[in-house]
Amino acid sequence: MKATSATPSTSAPVAHNALPPPSATSNARSSRIAPHSHIKGLGLTSDGLAAPDGAGFIGQTNAREACGVVVDLVKSRKFSGRALLLVGAPGTGKTALALAVSHELGNKVPFCPMVGSEVYSTEVKKTEVLAESFRRAIGLRIKETKEVYEGEVTELTPAEAENPLSGYGKTVSHVIVGLKTVKGTKQLRLDPTIYEAILKEKIVVGDVIYVEANTGAVKRVGRSDAYASSYDLESETYVPLPKGDVHKRKELVQDVTLGDLDAANARPQGGQDIMSVMGSLVKSGRTEVTDKLRREVNKVVKGYVDQGVAEVVPGVVFIDEVHMLDIECFTYLNALLESPMAPTVILATNRGNALVRGTTDVVSPHGVPVDLLDRCLIVKTDGYNREQIGKVVQLRANVEGLKLGPGVLERIAEEGERGSMRYALQLLTPASILAGLSGRNQIEVEDIGEMNELFLDAKTSATNIGADGGFDGGKMW
Ligand SMILES: Nc1ncnc2c1ncn2[C@@H]1O[C@H](COP(=O)(O)OP(=O)(O)O)[C@@H](O)[C@H]1O
Ligand SMILES: [Mg+2]
Repeated sequence: MKATSATPSTSAPVAHNALPPPSATSNARSSRIAPHSHIKGLGLTSDGLAAPDGAGFIGQTNAREACGVVVDLVKSRKFSGRALLLVGAPGTGKTALALAVSHELGNKVPFCPMVGSEVYSTEVKKTEVLAESFRRAIGLRIKETKEVYEGEVTELTPAEAENPLSGYGKTVSHVIVGLKTVKGTKQLRLDPTIYEAILKEKIVVGDVIYVEANTGAVKRVGRSDAYASSYDLESETYVPLPKGDVHKRKELVQDVTLGDLDAANARPQGGQDIMSVMGSLVKSGRTEVTDKLRREVNKVVKGYVDQGVAEVVPGVVFIDEVHMLDIECFTYLNALLESPMAPTVILATNRGNALVRGTTDVVSPHGVPVDLLDRCLIVKTDGYNREQIGKVVQLRANVEGLKLGPGVLERIAEEGERGSMRYALQLLTPASILAGLSGRNQIEVEDIGEMNELFLDAKTSATNIGADGGFDGGKMW
């Protein structure tokens, strides 16, 4: 790698391959974001006012405008050392607001959600969990010009040879890959380890790929658009046939977080492939990232930034159920807020006055100690009416590609008004399964009716059990 060779010779644990392989960067948390995929931003006008609905957000205008002010403060660097605290009932859009703030801060800004109770683990210190989340919320955009072979795969032939070690089996001795661009074609003879990488990336003829000349790392860019099909919805990305020569210099942009860098350097540097990463995870349990290592990573990062090859992208750390943190964590949080490279911190809770965890007698608003509250801008989220719930349900149905028959929207909105926004949204998927079972591709009112026979919303469920004395009241057994 060109960039690293210029940094002062590899000091202690941060080895020359300080960057994690792209495949190892975390996307485990993306599943928490999926239910909010219809939210594209806060939907504010240029003068900071919220339209009744915009950018996928329905209603909640006061909170959206307040969050818009926070975005402005962050952008003008006047929000350091502070935090945004969202308070409101479950399902009123607190998580959605936090995500919208991160969208407003820029494209590809890291968003690191966590839940307060995640800090309680037997393996890792509480404060360590918080520190890690903060590191995961700081992105690094690395631009490097690398020598690559890029093109559409026209041929992929592994060549086999007798295995000299076992009399019977055969091994791959090399692999022939044909690459095509607008300008020409080239045949490459590649090492068998690269063939393994090709298999893992599930590359087939017709994909556009590039192979880094120095490291042999293979990356699949997408499918060549000559193969584009006519489906309306597809997970495949189609890319045009690359221009220029197959062998060329290409500017590659990689987005990683400081957390990724810490983790990649904490575990022994095995191969670059995912299996060795998995292997080291299984062997050593959760790897410990020390403060020393973090400082080393910071030093390398600073080197990158000074040379202009990388850019720091501060993101958002979102701590849901913040009342679950204890006094030790809150104190540490204060310290983290003060640190020079802190991301934007958004906290959320649905508690009113509560005991601060880890103390015996300190009751404070939202279960958050006053010294931290002092640093917070507090924004309240309101409940929704039937019409607003209906609009959000319609948005979700569009995103999930579900068709709603006549009267269904009204019916779900009604359920949502009795239960909550989240309950209403959660009816969609099972109802679509019921519709599928009856051989329809459209959800009808009867599906919702059947859902109500099968499942209960929380309020109904609680009253049922209250009435006959509860599960341990004797009647049930
Ligand atoms: N005003 C809104 N506009 C659009 N979608 C919303 C709105 N409020 C909530 N949602 C959606 O409703 C669901 C529940 O909201 P969520 O943000 O998880 O609530 P909370 O975090 O307050 O419990 C999510 O799928 C969210 O995207
Ligand atoms: Mg939430």
